Amino acid sequence: MNDKPIGIFDSGLGGLTVLKEIMAMLGEESTVYFGDNGRTPYGTKSQEVVIKYTFQDINFLLSKDVKMIVIGCNTASACSLDKVRDHINIPVIEVVEPGAAKAVSCTKNGKIGVIGTSATVESCVYEKAIINKAPDIQVFQKACPMFVPLAEEGWWENDIAESICRKYLEPLKEQNIDTLVLGCTHYPLLKNTIRKVMGPEVTLVNSGVEVAKAVKATLEELDLKCTAGHAAVNEFYTSDSVEKFELLGGTFLEREIHNAQKTDIEQYESNY
Ligand code: DGL
Repeated sequence: MNDKPIGIFDSGLGGLTVLKEIMAMLGEESTVYFGDNGRTPYGTKSQEVVIKYTFQDINFLLSKDVKMIVIGCNTASACSLDKVRDHINIPVIEVVEPGAAKAVSCTKNGKIGVIGTSATVESCVYEKAIINKAPDIQVFQKACPMFVPLAEEGWWENDIAESICRKYLEPLKEQNIDTLVLGCTHYPLLKNTIRKVMGPEVTLVNSGVEVAKAVKATLEELDLKCTAGHAAVNEFYTSDSVEKFELLGGTFLEREIHNAQKTDIEQYESNY
C-alpha cells in the first residue's frame, strides 16, 4: 500500500503548481497527475458538470491504484468536495482549507481578498472557510475568469496580463486588503504581475505549499509514507494533446515532462 502513488488532478495545467510543491517536499513518493486539458476550463461551467468531471477524474486516478487523491483544482474542490468525501474511501486532500487557514494566519488588519474562477467565487467556499475560523475577518472576493487562459497561454508578465490584472484587482486594492488568496491553481504563474499591481505590502497566499504540507502530515498520520529507498515514478496523463501538455506543463512544473500519455476520460464513470 505505502509504495502506491499519490493521485492528483486538475482541469488542466494548474494542478502542476501543486504537484511541484509535493515533489519538492515529498520527492520520494510516486505520483500520477491527470490534467483534463480537453475539457478545461472548469471554472465557467455549472456545478453539475464540474461534479461529473470530478468523479470521472477521480475514477481515472483510482484505476491507477493510488493511495491518496489530491484535488489540485479549487473549482473541483468548491463544487464537489462534500460528495467526494462521502463516496471515496481513500484519503482526499483539497486546496481550499489549507489556503484559507494560511490566509487567516497571515492577515494583520483582518481584510482578506480571494480571487478565483467564477464557480469558486460563486460557491463562497473560501469566505465560509475563513469566517468559520475567524468570524471577524472581512472577505472580499473577485472572480478573474481571464486569468486561466492567460496562464495557459504563457502570458504571465506581459502588458496584457498587467492591464487585465489591474482591471480585476483595483477593487480589492481599494478595500485595503493585506492578504490575497490565489484561489485557483493557475494563478501562481501570474504572481509577479499580481504582486506588481497589489504592491509588496499585500501577502499572496499560494495554497500549493500548504497542500504539500497537508499531504505530508496525512501520510504520516495514517502511516502511508512510502518505504525507505523507494524509487519515485512520476506519471502524467492528459485528455488532450500530449505534445502541448509536455511543452506548457513543463513550464508550470518547472521541470521537463517527457512521458505524458493521453487518456480518454469520457470512458470513466461519474458515479456518486
Ligand atoms: N485550476 C483550476 C482551479 O484551481 C481552475 C481552472 C479552470 O477554470 O479550469 O480552480
